[in-house]
Amino acid sequence: MNKQETLDALNERMSLQCDCSLRIQATQAVPGDGSALAEILFIGEAPGKNEDLQGIPFIGAAGKFLSEMLATIELKREDIYITNIVKYRPPNNRDPLPEEISACLPSLYKQIKIIRPKIIVTLGRHAMEHFIPGKKISLVHGQAFRRALPGIGSQVFFVLYHPAAALYNGSLRATLIEDFKKIPKVLEKIKEGNHEK
Ligand code: URA
Repeated sequence: MNKQETLDALNERMSLQCDCSLRIQATQAVPGDGSALAEILFIGEAPGKNEDLQGIPFIGAAGKFLSEMLATIELKREDIYITNIVKYRPPNNRDPLPEEISACLPSLYKQIKIIRPKIIVTLGRHAMEHFIPGKKISLVHGQAFRRALPGIGSQVFFVLYHPAAALYNGSLRATLIEDFKKIPKVLEKIKEGNHEK
């Protein structure tokens, strides 16, 4: 199996067998979308209403905003991979609970292991907190961090505000757009092998 087939098979298993209690109320799993060959992996929070109905992440207003920002760095949705820290919609879009995040993490780590992205972009507080704990997003947005992931190894992360949070907040929106534009530079540095630790 090639990378895409391996990822598709994993995502299919995720839809059929998952320990997360959110599964009971959700319509379906929302495993992820995009290319298994992507250099950039985006990780958001959790599927919303539209995502739950269609089984595809970031297809609502936040997703449209994300696509607009991708266009500013000359990328399309098909060039990246996008998923969430939890794979099922929490009831009424509440924050995911720590046990729900824990239940979904093995699937996320398997996705990372298959894709092996050059950079993981965390969207919002929940994804950031798991990988780069103990930081305040207001202080570290737009910054890159290198962390060791169990079973995976060294990985660079880039912290962004969540597009849904920034959508209707003028100053957050401008900040997110500016931070987003830094992604190609960070990626270039990683490829040159001289990204700061
Ligand atoms: N917000 C998220 O974090 N994920 C989605 O899939 C949609 C909206």
